[in-house]
Amino acid sequence: MARLTIIKSDNPLIRKHSKEVDDFSPHLHELLDNMQETMLHANGVGIAGVQVGVLYRMAVLLTEEYGILEIINPRIISATRNKIATEGCLSCPGISGRVRRPHLVTVEFQDRNGVKQTKTLRGRDAVCCGHEMDHMDGVLFIDKMQN
Ligand code: CO
Repeated sequence: MARLTIIKSDNPLIRKHSKEVDDFSPHLHELLDNMQETMLHANGVGIAGVQVGVLYRMAVLLTEEYGILEIINPRIISATRNKIATEGCLSCPGISGRVRRPHLVTVEFQDRNGVKQTKTLRGRDAVCCGHEMDHMDGVLFIDKMQN
């Protein structure tokens, strides 16, 4: 495994929309392994492809309920329990702020082998999922921050 460079919010790439993943090859697995190592080394709980300059719809989450969860081509099936919680982002060092998001989310996605999965995420895990999915559309938590 290798650590990757995390791009910051002042890099225009961070605002790009990511494309669907259609190649579930060993190359993807290596990339996901490297994203995980990069996230853990930075003490993050989530990292999206775009944050390491890879414009594909995938993210690695460190969840409380399931441990490491890789979500590829995710789609929200249901999202409820909107609440405000404090967030930060590996691409926005030194910044944290309050964001309103669903705290109960059911998400359908593909795993690293392209197999469809469905998971229900709660609390911080749900927030993390929403945050990482925003990255796939070029959206940062600072866009949604409130007082
Ligand atoms: Co982030």
